[in-house]
Amino acid sequence: MKKHQALLDILPDHVVGNRDFMIFGHFLEHFHRQIYGGIYDPGSHLADENGFRRDVIEALRKIKTPVIRWPGGCFVSAYPWKKGVGQRVPYYDKAWRVEEPNSFGTDELVAFCREVGAAPFICTNAGTGAPEDMSDWVEYCNLDIGEWAALRRANGHDKPYNVRYWSIGNENYGAWEMGAKTADEWARLVLESAKMMKRVDHTIELAIASIPDLDWNATVLRQAGDLLDWVSIHGYWSRASDAGVFEQGYDNIVARAFEPEERIVTVKHILGSLGYLGKLRIAFDEWNLRGWCHPNFMSFGAADHALMDANDINSNYNMADAVFTACFLNSCLRHCDVVGMANFSPAVNTVGAIFTHADGIVLRPTYHVFDLFTNHTYEEIVHSALATPEFEVESSDGQATSVPYLDAVVTRDSTTGAIGVSLVNLHGDDAIPCRIRGFGASAYGGATLRTLNGQSVDAYNDIDQADAVSISTSQLAFDDASDFSIECPPHSVTVLNLN
Ligand code: AHR
Repeated sequence: MKKHQALLDILPDHVVGNRDFMIFGHFLEHFHRQIYGGIYDPGSHLADENGFRRDVIEALRKIKTPVIRWPGGCFVSAYPWKKGVGQRVPYYDKAWRVEEPNSFGTDELVAFCREVGAAPFICTNAGTGAPEDMSDWVEYCNLDIGEWAALRRANGHDKPYNVRYWSIGNENYGAWEMGAKTADEWARLVLESAKMMKRVDHTIELAIASIPDLDWNATVLRQAGDLLDWVSIHGYWSRASDAGVFEQGYDNIVARAFEPEERIVTVKHILGSLGYLGKLRIAFDEWNLRGWCHPNFMSFGAADHALMDANDINSNYNMADAVFTACFLNSCLRHCDVVGMANFSPAVNTVGAIFTHADGIVLRPTYHVFDLFTNHTYEEIVHSALATPEFEVESSDGQATSVPYLDAVVTRDSTTGAIGVSLVNLHGDDAIPCRIRGFGASAYGGATLRTLNGQSVDAYNDIDQADAVSISTSQLAFDDASDFSIECPPHSVTVLNLN
């Protein structure tokens, strides 16, 4: 191997596994401008007859959004879903300490998901809510008979919604969560809730709030594991300061690019050690490089709502976000045997992929990563071996960390044999050439490279510079019948397609 070159060896006929497209899912919480002023804005000239932003729907369709988790997040742990259907009254939201308009509830979520073409994934209130509330919610959505189905019909929705994906609770292990539980309390509640929810509809798939901790999972899964389908985990790797300032500095962010994968591996081992590998899958159902800006909201300190507006500063979201996001998705692809769902947190506004304003939307760099992966990679993950040089960066805690220049996953279309390789160059300044071997490239008609990049690591999109970070497309001429080289520019995400 040349000194500064990566080498990717591919066995195109050796399939490692199939990805579940739900890893490209999103999350929406009643927080700041995600719902109101985000996806739902009845007063906007861009809204449709349901009050949903048409431009947002179109953008979510373009990235084939497969699943939307809702309504929280911390918000759900005191959410009275029954007051969010039919006649609505605004109420005080104890999670974010604002008035919840309550005009967007279950019926609106299902209608929105239908317009997007996404499956709804309802996270229930397991904080202040009881098993009966959760199972009543399943009745409202999925049954044809009984009190709650009758209410749905009375609200104008004759046919059951058949919501397949449900989660019991959100982060109920955490002291910040309303109705937080010990592992024993959680196990009992999960067992009773799952029992009642599956008695209403045994076809639903159930997730529970979990953490990468052996004892916690042992306690809960030994009691309730056989009634479950998923364990949910969350991750944010960079927090805004209490003054509402987002972390900058590219190197110390890419130093964390493979921490999500460590978390996946930990949970995979936990599931294996408890005998649940192959039975339960991981739903990484809240994830983002950036934690949301809500200083003091998790504690009892003064809530400063004005600081939440820092979430709307588009310059906070740059190529570091894109590179981290692509590495996260590559990690899910590598562990497709156990990661079946992931939900970018959130889809719209806050630290999300799409920013809304009065006259349109801005597609942040992370949006384009989803565009590349959902539209240009394929369902089969094929075997490959990557040899890449590494570089050293100083992480925020002052430690020297080795980071690979390149990260890559090879995918294949099972019907056509078309190949899609997702390649991430994590280095902030250096391009990295990559020799790709093993295809018999001459068997393919041609190659297309789609590269997401901006002028610098700090490049970002905004209202007046919508395409500062964008995808450029080029064709590749093979220099050899069986292997060829490409060059991945610094801080870039590329999908290479052979058709
Ligand atoms: O910062 C957003 C919050 O983070 C979500 O509401 C919660 O689920 C997570 O802790």
